Amino acid sequence: MMMTSRISNAGISNVPVKVARIAQMALAASAIAGVCTGQAPTANLTIQLDKPAHAVSPTFYGLMTEEINYSYDGGLYAEMVRNRTFQDHGWAGVGRWNIEHTGDSVASMAVDQTDGPSAAVDISLAITVKQADPLNSAGVRNEGYWGMAVRSNTTYTGSLYAKTESADIGPLNVALVNDNTGLPAATTAVRGLSTEWKRYEFTLTTGKVEPSSDNHLVLTVGHAGKLWIDLVSLFPPTYKNRENGNRPDLMEMMAAMHPKFLRLPGGNYLEGDQIDERFDWKNTIGPMVNRPTHRSPWNYQSSDGLGLLEFLEWSEDLRMQTVLAVYAGYSLKGDHIHPGPELTPFVQDALDEIEFVTGDPSTKWGAVRAGLGHPAPFSISYVEIGNEDQFDRSGSYEGRFAQFYKAIKAKYPQLQLIATTPVHRTRPDVVDDHYYRRADEFFDDVKHYDTVDRNGPKIFVGEWATREGSPTTNMGAALGDAAWMTGMERNSDLIVMASYAPLFVNVNPGGMQWESDLIGYDAMSSYGSPSYYAQAMFGEYLGTEVPTSSQTGGGNRFFYSVTRDPAKGEVFLKLVNASSLPQQVAIDMQGASNVSTTGTLVSLTGTNDAETNTISTPTRIVPVKSTLPSTAAKFAHTVPPYSVQVIQLEAK
Ligand code: AHR
Repeated sequence: MMMTSRISNAGISNVPVKVARIAQMALAASAIAGVCTGQAPTANLTIQLDKPAHAVSPTFYGLMTEEINYSYDGGLYAEMVRNRTFQDHGWAGVGRWNIEHTGDSVASMAVDQTDGPSAAVDISLAITVKQADPLNSAGVRNEGYWGMAVRSNTTYTGSLYAKTESADIGPLNVALVNDNTGLPAATTAVRGLSTEWKRYEFTLTTGKVEPSSDNHLVLTVGHAGKLWIDLVSLFPPTYKNRENGNRPDLMEMMAAMHPKFLRLPGGNYLEGDQIDERFDWKNTIGPMVNRPTHRSPWNYQSSDGLGLLEFLEWSEDLRMQTVLAVYAGYSLKGDHIHPGPELTPFVQDALDEIEFVTGDPSTKWGAVRAGLGHPAPFSISYVEIGNEDQFDRSGSYEGRFAQFYKAIKAKYPQLQLIATTPVHRTRPDVVDDHYYRRADEFFDDVKHYDTVDRNGPKIFVGEWATREGSPTTNMGAALGDAAWMTGMERNSDLIVMASYAPLFVNVNPGGMQWESDLIGYDAMSSYGSPSYYAQAMFGEYLGTEVPTSSQTGGGNRFFYSVTRDPAKGEVFLKLVNASSLPQQVAIDMQGASNVSTTGTLVSLTGTNDAETNTISTPTRIVPVKSTLPSTAAKFAHTVPPYSVQVIQLEAK
């Protein structure tokens, strides 16, 4: 009898029923294999453990995401107040803000386009209270990002800028209120409002409450008068208690993927639809009141609360390298900057950015970073110049890349520079290839890199995903992904890095701009797609070396890769059966004098391609760990239908 337990991944509870079902399926599959009805031809794998083919790139695998699908605002970035600087306003009112009144109180609100606490945050919300008293207060409420998650015995940290026409208006009452009961989960008051803009801090601490995302934030006064508010902010406890930090559940889910790098800040988000909507990194650092916010190409305003330094700290918290993408003078709607003098300020901006990231505090931009509380430089090896510049039909990328390359290499010769599409005038160190495909396309192209010239630039598969399933991917996508990853691992002498994209989606209505994402969430909880678990399995059981191996036989939807860690004497066999039939595999490991008699089997199995996890059924498909009895230098194994498996063995 197999011993089974589920892989421990953050945020997912134990699922004994699932474990039993998967174990049954595996046993049933073996039984089917025994009678040999409806089965793909046996795959024979010969693995020459004493013949290393090449090392596994130490930068396998990484993360890539951007401000898309409410990935940061309404996602990773833990801010609970939506439209905190009122940029979202128009004929439909002030986005996510409403008037709040009790009794006969009377109030109105309007965006004041002429007044704000800073040059960057230069508009505010003016609240005119015509009638109110302490028992009949009036003000505004914010609905958050599809609600606000409130939990028991938790302290929420808030702040806002405010000013008033007259201090007579009294204290500003602050409350987290349940949408369904109208009862406050926590209350406090901000006192001492004056006629000058000032920043106020407050905390809201809950007692015992029913955990729920059906909550909103209320700000009211108990006296008639006029006041202005801005940059209204509320944070729950964050990962590692960072101020202005990230959601712990999402950080823990990423940590379980064992990522080696973060490609930041995007994607299309780097470029913006227009040049003045690019990720202008200098506008994303320092106090929030100095960040003007900007429109993301995914059609909503980015608060830029998750700015360049926060990206770097996110990398630091998960011990990932930074792969820094610098804006290279092309934006999505087609505008570009001509190479030459017009481009020079953009090149300088990139040099400044690299100095901000890597410079010690004696440098101009290193000093700025130190002043923001991070004196230690971040170390980077790769800088990417632009994003998907094949879409720049003007042909200017040759010249733009050359200009950036020359300037960056002159100052930072050690940096590896990535081109976003092949260029010919300058030889890039690395080229970034992107693949968004259906599973069958990945199955058909799994050998894509097997025959690519090893004398050219290295490859960064900077965005890739099997796009099947919505909002998050299904088991069929996980199989496409896993098959593709076997090909990438086999070619990890050429492919230096790979990152799935996009990572995140807020599953609430209107949250998604891009279908088929890896991790879904709402304000309260999060879950991994089957693809997420396939990534986590490949990331955890990675190894350091690819031994020589070969396959004969096997069904046409069977894929494998093998890696090992010679220092630890471990072998990792990844087996992907995307077929509806079980796949028998005969494994012959040569060149090892001692192979363990039991192994560890991690199995991700679905009933069919369409099966998936959702926010309400988050653990339908999760990896199940068991002990594999009777392993040896030669042994047989059956991979159940619709399965991604890792077998870990000791072999010395
Ligand atoms: O990952 C989504 C988008 O796909 C990225 O922003 C872009 O680089 C690619 O086209």
